[in-house]
Amino acid sequence: MWKRAEKIAERIRKEDDFLVVTHIDADGITAGSIAAETLKNLDKDFEIRFLKQLDPLTLQALKEDGRLLWFTDLGSGMANVIGDAIITDHHEPVLDVPLEKRGDILAYTDTVEKVTEYHLNPHLFGLNGSTDISGAGTAFMVAYSVSKDNAYLSALAIVGAVGDMQALKTGRLEGLNREILDIGKKAGVLEWKMDISLYGRETRELHRMLQYASEPPFPGITGDEEAAIAFLLEIGIDLKDERGEWRRWGDLADWERKRVINGLMNLMLDSGYDARDVQSLISEVYLLTKEEEGTVLHDANEFSTLLNSCGRYGFGDVGYRVCAGDRGEYLKKALDLLQGHRRVLVEMLGFIQDGGIREYGSIQYFHGGDSIPEEITGTLAGMALSSGMAASDRPIFAFTTKDDGNIKVSGRATQSMVNKGLRLDEIMNRAAEQLGGAGGGHDIAAGATIPAGKEEEFLKIADEMVRSQMKK
Ligand code: C5P
Ligand code: C5P
Ligand code: ZN
Repeated sequence: MWKRAEKIAERIRKEDDFLVVTHIDADGITAGSIAAETLKNLDKDFEIRFLKQLDPLTLQALKEDGRLLWFTDLGSGMANVIGDAIITDHHEPVLDVPLEKRGDILAYTDTVEKVTEYHLNPHLFGLNGSTDISGAGTAFMVAYSVSKDNAYLSALAIVGAVGDMQALKTGRLEGLNREILDIGKKAGVLEWKMDISLYGRETRELHRMLQYASEPPFPGITGDEEAAIAFLLEIGIDLKDERGEWRRWGDLADWERKRVINGLMNLMLDSGYDARDVQSLISEVYLLTKEEEGTVLHDANEFSTLLNSCGRYGFGDVGYRVCAGDRGEYLKKALDLLQGHRRVLVEMLGFIQDGGIREYGSIQYFHGGDSIPEEITGTLAGMALSSGMAASDRPIFAFTTKDDGNIKVSGRATQSMVNKGLRLDEIMNRAAEQLGGAGGGHDIAAGATIPAGKEEEFLKIADEMVRSQMKK
């Protein structure tokens, strides 16, 4: 992969004018920002654009742009029709050009070699795109090959990997992501340690961090502010410091942290959680050492949520400015968007709870109709699955109506389902194709667009495929 990255770097040095095209989520924004910073550092001309997904019409327009296209965190799924471009991505690649498509306006190339010449993707090298490296990571490999001075961009690569939940399988980043961590540590921009895995470790008031914990929830505490406060007081933790300010996780002494963790673990065991869930309370956390402690930007997980709050609401550019170093106007705007994102998630989870999650054979689903914005169906499906709102023994599919009237589908699974053979990307790809749509993604998380009214048929196909995959 480093050799391929080197080859792409050589090409970049030779060209002058670029159009960076990337995805709207945290991994997409960091990937695009890494590409943009790399080009900026080389004094190249470039523009960056954010897409919900790449479709044939958009691709055709992009190809007519004339500048060299650099796709980040997307592109691999259409590699067979992209033609001459740079792709740094981690989605399942589609390489072969069907015979009937050759000569088609979209199909410039007809050999796998041509399709992969400037295409960096872990799947092309026998690696795993959901755990070994993310879109931002592949973009970083190119950045670092262009110049070792770009080592500082490793921090963004890790934010991207964490945003794509690449550490979920084992509680720590693996594969090439670890190489990137080492580069970041040497460059003085990254550190990591074992710590409590709750969201808000950096910025939330202690009792609120517990109150809002949902993946998994703490019975009797989650959703109940008073109960969270009572729990902390009972185990002897002061809630405020001597100035009367609410304390955060980072303000606690070591012995206090151990006491909170012990208390939570006991509570989980008493509530019937299995050892794996209890263990997952502690995981590796990734810190951006150049950022101020106690801020959203100091923690890779909180940083990634900040970026999702931008891109998923049409403000990818705001996220990019923050990645490129803005700590004024754009950071403020991003923090406002984060507040909005939180409100939307709470409201939408309530909506899903009220509407109910339905079982369908070996799968389960909910339909967001016009109420759930398509950009967050995946996030919500994932939250429903990990929070216990949905059954944990089967994949979940979420439907929502897109602005153009078509249906967006998001699928989410757990690692143990994937271990049993589940491949959501394959299901999305096949089912959508049969129904006249398009889809793809990763084994554990995938999405598709299908025509309206085809939901029932989609469920039928998905149910059958899930059964046959997991039987194998
Ligand atoms: O398009 P992209 O590859 O960046 O998105 C990957 C998606 O997979 C993210 O939305 C991420 O949250 C999701 N994911 C998940 N569970 C995992 C791994 C990834 O929901 N265990
Ligand atoms: O949109 P959602 O978060 O459900 O997407 C999950 C994964 O599937 C992401 O990696 C996304 O890029 C991918 N996806 C895709 N094609 C689609 C929709 C989503 O490859 N039409
Ligand atoms: Zn990604």
